[in-house]
Amino acid sequence: MKGVILAGGLGSRLMPCTRITNKHLLPVYDQPMVYYPIQLLRSARIHDIFVVTGPEHVEDFKTVLGDGHELGVKLMFRTQEKPGGIAQALGLAREFVGSEKFAVVLGDNIFEHDLGPDIANFESSDMEAFLFLKEVGDAQRFGVAEVKDNKIVSIEEKPKKPKSNLAVTGLYLYDAKSVFGVIANLKPSGRGELEITDVNNHYVKKGTCGFTQVKGDWSDAGTFESLFHASKVARKKKGLRD
Ligand code: G1P
Repeated sequence: MKGVILAGGLGSRLMPCTRITNKHLLPVYDQPMVYYPIQLLRSARIHDIFVVTGPEHVEDFKTVLGDGHELGVKLMFRTQEKPGGIAQALGLAREFVGSEKFAVVLGDNIFEHDLGPDIANFESSDMEAFLFLKEVGDAQRFGVAEVKDNKIVSIEEKPKKPKSNLAVTGLYLYDAKSVFGVIANLKPSGRGELEITDVNNHYVKKGTCGFTQVKGDWSDAGTFESLFHASKVARKKKGLRD
């Protein structure tokens, strides 16, 4: 399988730290943030990775990561000229991915536990999409899944009144045979972006979207509070406790 890391955006909620570099290069405990999604993919034996970032700091990425060989992976970079949403950024990976199943991870997501076995299961399943859900206390900040009879029945992006406390984390597995067609037919949301939640709802409606609940801890890192939490997850990954 191939992997895609989405590491664009302006990181405006982390100003002034993001004035001189990209959010995904800031430290999360003892490593640059983007190391974690790379290590997540590598632990699932995914070594061929496409990184999408903004034009402002792409040279910083190359300085920090090079071609990836120090981390045991092979990286290719592509810039998203203007932030147009996660789904638009993913659309840039179409040629790289080809027509197999693949994994996409948001560059600011960190998972405590290895998810390689779930990724391998998806590869051999007849699902077209697969999501990783996590119970959270602040569901309004995320895509939120409503689950009935062990099936996702809907996902709402940043709902004011969430129907559950199950956040859709930023690791997505898709079948490339269909997902790029779905992206090409998306309409921009109210905030003018192509939403990954709309992609996922396509598969929810079609009945081909699997999911699991993430067992260990998880965090994103787009705000100072979540960045702090992400560092705690990173320490736990090393077996260190508070
Ligand atoms: C994005 C997605 C959201 C998801 C989250 C996970 O939100 O739009 O559905 O739950 O990532 O990190 P953002 O971080 O862009 O606000």
